[in-house]
Amino acid sequence: MIKVAPSILSADYMHLQHDIERVEKGGADLLHIDIMDGTFVPNISFGPGFVKAIRPITNLTLDCHLMVEHPEHLLPSFIDAGADIIGVQVEATQHIHRALQIIKNGGVKAEVVINPGTPVMMIEPVLSMVDQVLVMTVNPGFGGQKFLHSTVEKIAQLDQIKKDRGYNFDIEVDGGVNYKTVVDCYKAGATVAVAGSYVYVANDPADRIKTLKEATK
Ligand code: DX5
Ligand code: ZN
Repeated sequence: MIKVAPSILSADYMHLQHDIERVEKGGADLLHIDIMDGTFVPNISFGPGFVKAIRPITNLTLDCHLMVEHPEHLLPSFIDAGADIIGVQVEATQHIHRALQIIKNGGVKAEVVINPGTPVMMIEPVLSMVDQVLVMTVNPGFGGQKFLHSTVEKIAQLDQIKKDRGYNFDIEVDGGVNYKTVVDCYKAGATVAVAGSYVYVANDPADRIKTLKEATK
């Protein structure tokens, strides 16, 4: 059964606490928070103050996905804000190893993220040090986009590397996840599914979380 990480990018920002409580009670495993800087991606979302405000209202694992240039400048603020997992896009820094080291030294789980156009080979040297790998299944920046099937092969490659080398990082997928696409991801080896619009653009987010889990039993 896959772990589900609802993305609050698609939540109702005027009723955020309610929307977080609904997914927590509804069986979510993590809470996915998308951080966008308007440069690495053509959209702006939340900063470290937002994560800090959420921290006391939920026990969910805060899974922070940084879509920002120069992520190393912002890492201390997100560590202090109470993030549990911090993900850095490999395309956004020339120093991915250093960025992951900063996260780990801060006592936070480290994640490396790859865009649909980036091969697994690009992150191969840091796979021994990460707790989670995020395979983007859409081009980052917006919720509600269509799942890119060409990314599934990369999930399978990562799963094979895990088996060959005895690594146990989680493989997370993000973008266009719904009751159908989650099955392909799970079969290929994904262990965590981010879902934004599928969960939140629904009358009953808890029912959507349940559907994703039942589809991957
Ligand atoms: C996209 C974000 C996603 C987004 C997913 O850049 O990284 O986390 O919230 O939204 P859906 O599930 O609607 O594709
Ligand atoms: Zn995301």
